[in-house]
Amino acid sequence: MCGIVGAVAQRDVSEILVEGLRRLEYRGYDSAGVAIISNDNELLTTKRVGKVQELTKALELNPISGGTGIAHTRWATHGVPSEENAHPHLSNGTIAVVHNGIIENHDELRKKLQALGYEFVSQTDTEVITHLVHHELKTSDSLLAAVQKTVKQLEGAYGTVVMDKRDKDNMIVARSGSPLVIGYGLGENFIASDIMALLPVTRKFSYLEEGDVAQISRFEVKVYNTYGEPVEREATEANVSHDSGDKGEYRHYMLKETYEQPTSVRNTLEGRLSGTELNIDTFGHGADEIFKNVDHVQIIACGTSYHSGMVARYWLEELAGVSCNIEIASEFRYRKSFVPKNSMIVTLSQSGETADTLAALRLAKEIGYTSSLSICNVPGSSLVRESDLSFMTKAGAEIGVASTKAFTTQLVGLLMMTLAIGKHHGMPIEQQQSIANSLQTLPNKLEEVLTLAPSIEDLAEDFADKHHALFLGRGDQYPIAMEGALKLKEISYIHAEAYAAGELKHGPLALIDAEMPVIVVAPKNDLIEKLKSNVEEVRARGGLMYVFADVDAHFESDDTMKVINVPHCDDIIAPIVYTLPLQLLSYYVAIIKGTDVDQPRNLAKSVTVE
Ligand code: G6P
Repeated sequence: MCGIVGAVAQRDVSEILVEGLRRLEYRGYDSAGVAIISNDNELLTTKRVGKVQELTKALELNPISGGTGIAHTRWATHGVPSEENAHPHLSNGTIAVVHNGIIENHDELRKKLQALGYEFVSQTDTEVITHLVHHELKTSDSLLAAVQKTVKQLEGAYGTVVMDKRDKDNMIVARSGSPLVIGYGLGENFIASDIMALLPVTRKFSYLEEGDVAQISRFEVKVYNTYGEPVEREATEANVSHDSGDKGEYRHYMLKETYEQPTSVRNTLEGRLSGTELNIDTFGHGADEIFKNVDHVQIIACGTSYHSGMVARYWLEELAGVSCNIEIASEFRYRKSFVPKNSMIVTLSQSGETADTLAALRLAKEIGYTSSLSICNVPGSSLVRESDLSFMTKAGAEIGVASTKAFTTQLVGLLMMTLAIGKHHGMPIEQQQSIANSLQTLPNKLEEVLTLAPSIEDLAEDFADKHHALFLGRGDQYPIAMEGALKLKEISYIHAEAYAAGELKHGPLALIDAEMPVIVVAPKNDLIEKLKSNVEEVRARGGLMYVFADVDAHFESDDTMKVINVPHCDDIIAPIVYTLPLQLLSYYVAIIKGTDVDQPRNLAKSVTVE
């Protein structure tokens, strides 16, 4: 999704801005632009369609420089990707604006501004902000006041930064629905939509809250809440490595992040499980009391995070004896749902900023959920700040649009949550210990599974000319099959569907032929014999299968089936273990197809608009 970087400094900020954009590329975008106020008060802009590299090339040919500037990567919503539609947008050559989010009443505002004589040069919703600020400035004594008046007229979501070339010592920023973080430097200050953009220049950040408008200058940051009252937003040091944006020895972020999983799981377990003892403080203040009183859990998430929630439903109901529903956030937020007594809402999100998930959490609080927990990978994100409890996955920055290590560490967090709730709902101590023991074996098991990469790479050849694929699993492996199918479609653009294997006979069997590869996840568990019958159903119809099977499950490769033997693991961690071969499969298929693995077409990493 769109990315924002801004800086007010004494030095030339052009490189800071472009490096910031480069570090935001992972979010997905289709054009990029920068506007800088030069030392002699000129407003200079450069925009390009395509990658940040195109913008860099243009700036090398025609450099622009100055101490105050804003930059943006745009993911088109209103209007095609083009230089006219790329941000920053200007009004009368004096005001420059970048914006993340969607202004829902842009049509009405556009008409009003056109009637006032403003000419629009783009099809974007953003341009209304630009002209509105310019218009309000005519009757305001400062840019801050003009922006405060402007945001009152906006409906929808925005994270926006405004500059005026006649006031190069300040920029005004405003947040409602789309995150913005202020970065503090020495004699210079910054703004961005994601701390990642600013890590080369600062580690000290504060997050704006909903409705905040702030004035950022070199030596001072003044924040005002939605009522215009001055407020403090606490600044904290971010504990993120400067290099988390580098690919290292890997060809793609996705591959690097896939291989990081043993370490990210180890980090996520560290300090949370000592031997078999769960450290309940991991979830935040008062967690034990909250978990004791939970009788029902409603999980909400989008995309990959939704699949981890689906696995958790199996765990919570079977192991913790607590009822659990899971729903896609964009559905939950627009329907009237029944809230059982003593219900906890659990949101799952890598970014903590997904607009639908955040809206669902807010709704849940309104309609009577008694407590909330967020399992998230980004400290300080909106979901974390707005939930009673939080569990931070320690996956480290995830850059590839297709989520990998965030998913497996979410599953670790969900299993620990199952333990924490189960403890209060009669889970026998032996079972608690057995789950904890299995979790401790997980990092090494993941290392073993990654050694399957060369055989999975060979397998990928078979998929390169296929247009469809079917993934099958049963029980807690059904969501893993869904996640496998999602990975394949996201990065290789092959249409893939997942089915609970027992459903085959109710429809998907009709699709089986030699052109439809069928991928099966087959750990050795109570359902293995049932799954073997489903495999026979496919074989009898001439289907070609690729089975990721436990070494002890006794599947053998033949003309109709290629078997990849997966090292044996405990049942409870099998959903996490079997995820990795499917991630590798989709990665190698995408490599053969030559797609943009880390930034697949049309997708974004952090979906901060509806
Ligand atoms: C986007 C990403 C997915 C991600 C989903 C939810 O669609 O491309 O990889 O799973 O958003 O994101 P979240 O940050 O809430 O987990």
